[in-house]
Amino acid sequence: MAKKTLPIRDVFSSKFGVIAAAAGSAVGLGNIWKFPYIAGVYGGAAFLFVYLGFIALIGLPVMLSEFTIGRKSRSNVFGAFKNLAPGSPWKLVGMLGVAAAAMILAFYGVVAGWSIDYVVKAVSGNFAAKSPGELESMFTNFIETPLTPILYQIFFMILTMGIVIIGVKDGIEKYAKFLMPILIVIIIILNIRAVTLEGAAEGLRFLFYPDFSKLTADGVLSALGHAFFSLSLGMGTLVTYGSYIGDDNNLAVTAVQVTIADTLIAILAGIAIFPAVFAFGIEPSSGPGLVFITLPNVFQQMPGGYFFSILFFLLLTVAALTSSISILEVVVAYFREELKIKRNLSTVLATVLIGIIGVFCSLSMGMLKEYTTFGLNFFDLLDWISANLLLPLGGLFISLFVGWYLGRKKIEAELAKGAGVVSWLLSVFIFLVKFIAPGAIAIVFLHGLGFFNFG
Ligand code: TRP
Repeated sequence: MAKKTLPIRDVFSSKFGVIAAAAGSAVGLGNIWKFPYIAGVYGGAAFLFVYLGFIALIGLPVMLSEFTIGRKSRSNVFGAFKNLAPGSPWKLVGMLGVAAAAMILAFYGVVAGWSIDYVVKAVSGNFAAKSPGELESMFTNFIETPLTPILYQIFFMILTMGIVIIGVKDGIEKYAKFLMPILIVIIIILNIRAVTLEGAAEGLRFLFYPDFSKLTADGVLSALGHAFFSLSLGMGTLVTYGSYIGDDNNLAVTAVQVTIADTLIAILAGIAIFPAVFAFGIEPSSGPGLVFITLPNVFQQMPGGYFFSILFFLLLTVAALTSSISILEVVVAYFREELKIKRNLSTVLATVLIGIIGVFCSLSMGMLKEYTTFGLNFFDLLDWISANLLLPLGGLFISLFVGWYLGRKKIEAELAKGAGVVSWLLSVFIFLVKFIAPGAIAIVFLHGLGFFNFG
């Protein structure tokens, strides 16, 4: 079925498969767990609007850049830069990406493990008749226990490994295609319940009426970092996926669709959560536990809550899985194509390595929480460094590479495959990747880092 492609590499089998896999990568814990929690920490609506600005001006052009680099080179992220810019240091951007992937998946697996534990809690009816305070201590006690979260994290990593071993078309694409739509339906049902709670209006105001005076340099940097994190940008996930996209695909349309889907789902998650946060008197800035503490309160207050709570955490786990496979795939493609290790062995090696780092992330929530760097425990440190440093840095180089190194002719040739190129849109894209995206990243970066005092 696959059209014109290089012989030995996998390729997505259909256009819908491409969207489902790329959207499956983008939509994950970033949208449902991380977005509401950092929006809560950084003041709600003001953070949301800055984030939306970054999505449009930086995220979308960088996504199209990644797809372009990937499909043009038909290679893993390190090999992509090596092929397109032979003998130059550009391939270091690929190295940066592989490192970022390992760091992200380490803590990502931990949160996905929490989600699996919450499936079990939901099945055993653990949320029933608990006060918001009790639900909060249930979460805190759980993440601080040494053993259980690690077992779930390892279980999740094994699932991720299993799907990646099966391969792109039979593994990644097949699972993403039917699981993503179910998740969207359940979030919409949650929305309906959330906005009809008593006191919902205050939550909606928090999410949609901006008070820009609340914004800090650190908040703006986090909005930028999260734009990259949520869209799976800045480390080569979408370079790698781009390398599996057939020549008949319209890359620009795909990028727009994925960006819109990802952004809508983050906003829907916000609408499911903030009304409930205020209705139940939970602190919006309460951190990584926000979703896990808030939603069980909502499930208690809705008909069929038992059933929906199981379904929700199950699908959250699945959403995490369609993202985690895309992160692991970056490392695996690199091991396979650059270090010439077989696919299966590469996958096992990468999983074990990342799993071990993840165990320390998990322990840093409880047993090892005294060990901090810049005031952050190991989990938060990996999250902060990868999202706020490595991804924007990767994005900066990716946009510079496409804008200045590839140049208009090569970009046009790649984008013209499977599409009619509209000349002025191409010019806008090139202007964005040449000047706006790198300029904005550099400014936010320097500002944010200056504000953030590294001891
Ligand atoms: N975007 C995913 C989420 O929102 C996580 C993810 C997948 C990711 N691939 C990535 C983040 C690459 C950064 C870079 O949950």
